[in-house]
Amino acid sequence: MSKKALIIYGSSTGNTESVAEDIGRVLKDKGIDTIIKNVQDASMEDIGNEYGIILFGCSTWGEDELELQPDFIPFYDSMNDISFTEKKIAVFGCGESGYTYFCGAVDAIEERVRSKGANVVIESLKIDGDPMDADESIKEWATSVAEQI
Ligand SMILES: Cc1cc2nc3c(=O)[nH]c(=O)nc-3n(C[C@H](O)[C@H](O)[C@H](O)COP(=O)(O)O)c2cc1C
Repeated sequence: MSKKALIIYGSSTGNTESVAEDIGRVLKDKGIDTIIKNVQDASMEDIGNEYGIILFGCSTWGEDELELQPDFIPFYDSMNDISFTEKKIAVFGCGESGYTYFCGAVDAIEERVRSKGANVVIESLKIDGDPMDADESIKEWATSVAEQI
C-alpha cells in the first residue's frame, strides 16, 4: 500500500500556501501520495485513517491578541470534536518574529491536537518572514517529516 499524507493549510497572502506546496513537492518526490487542501475546502471528515501523517499549516494574525488565520478558525474549533489518538501530526506556519506571538497559531494548533491525543512527530516549523528565504529549511523539515511516515 502506498504511503499517504494530507496537508491542510490556511493562508491569507499566500505564504503558508506556498510552504504547503513546497512540503507537498518534497513528500511527493519521496513517493508519498500527498493531498493538499485549503482549509476552506476541508472538514473533520477529511481526517481519515488512511494517512500516514497529517500536516496542518496556519499563519498567525492579530495585534494584541493571538489570532489564527481567519479561514482556519472554524476548523480549529471543530478539532475539539474528534480524537487524534494514534494520528501522526506535524504543524507548520508563517509569521513574523516582530510580533508578540511569533507563529502563535502553530503553537495553538500543536497544543490542540496534543490535547486530543495526537502524536506530534516533529518540532513544528515556524517560518519568519518571506518563505522564499527559508527554502532550504523547508526542504529539510519536509524530508524529516517524510521519514516519520
Ligand atoms: C495585521 C497583521 C498581524 C500579524 N500578526 C502576527 C502575529 O501575531 N504573529 C506572527 O508571527 N505574525 C503575524 N503577522 C505576520 C503574518 O503571519 C505573515 O505575514 C505571514 O507570512 C502571513 O502568512 P499567510 O500569507 O500564509 O497568511 C501579522 C501580519 C499582519 C499584517
